[in-house]
Amino acid sequence: ADALAAGGLLSGLRVLISAGPTREPIDPVRFIGNRSSGKMGYALAAAARRAGADVTLISGPVALDAPAGVETVRVETAAEMHEAVMARTDRTDIYIGTAAVADYTPARVADAKIKKHADRLELTLSRTRDILRSIAALPDKPFVVGFAAETGEVEAHARAKLEAKGADLVAANEVGGAAPGGFERDENALFVCWRGGECHLPLASKTEIAHRLIRLIAERYYAENT
Ligand code: CTP
Ligand code: CA
Repeated sequence: ADALAAGGLLSGLRVLISAGPTREPIDPVRFIGNRSSGKMGYALAAAARRAGADVTLISGPVALDAPAGVETVRVETAAEMHEAVMARTDRTDIYIGTAAVADYTPARVADAKIKKHADRLELTLSRTRDILRSIAALPDKPFVVGFAAETGEVEAHARAKLEAKGADLVAANEVGGAAPGGFERDENALFVCWRGGECHLPLASKTEIAHRLIRLIAERYYAENT
């Protein structure tokens, strides 16, 4: 299990990871959120640290302790996460976006708690900015790893995301329904693709999957940066 530490596989490299959900406020007491425990991102941060990297974790609200030796910055909204990530990209060799960033946020946040007067309440939502795309578009971009939360046709969706987002590698897992891994679970199975290839990481604990994925990321990073 310690092939990661033994080789110091990522020593000297700076790895930036986003994790967890974001919370988009509706009023002072309510928000729109999503199902993400943050476990995959935290496990990847610990694995990257173990592999010798200098690791920074930008985390949405989760019930997890900061991994030992990892600089952890807590944020709430998609906009805060975008800002916290972008402020650190110039010091980053590898970006891993595991966060389940909200795609939409309330167009206006009510100053006071919304009372239940009417039978219907309509919320207008605006698109958030895409963090992964912003990083992939940088002139001196790091090696960019995206996650894809998909249902059905996982492999095709993952390939489409790799291209659309300008990522260097995309890891996808099936979420919801009868899928074995994913959100709020302790195990995960991933389909991983990059421009020149792909592979499957079969069902294992998120810790084990994180180790395998970090090894794969290191391999692809060095293949493109030597
Ligand atoms: N992502 C991001 N910023 C956003 C939305 C998504 O950085 N505002 C990142 C996620 O962290 C993940 C990747 O994009 O690494 C894919 O997220 P996903 O939700 O699967 O894809 P989207 O591009 O948001 O498309 P859709 O939800 O419509 O499938
Ligand atoms: Ca999305």
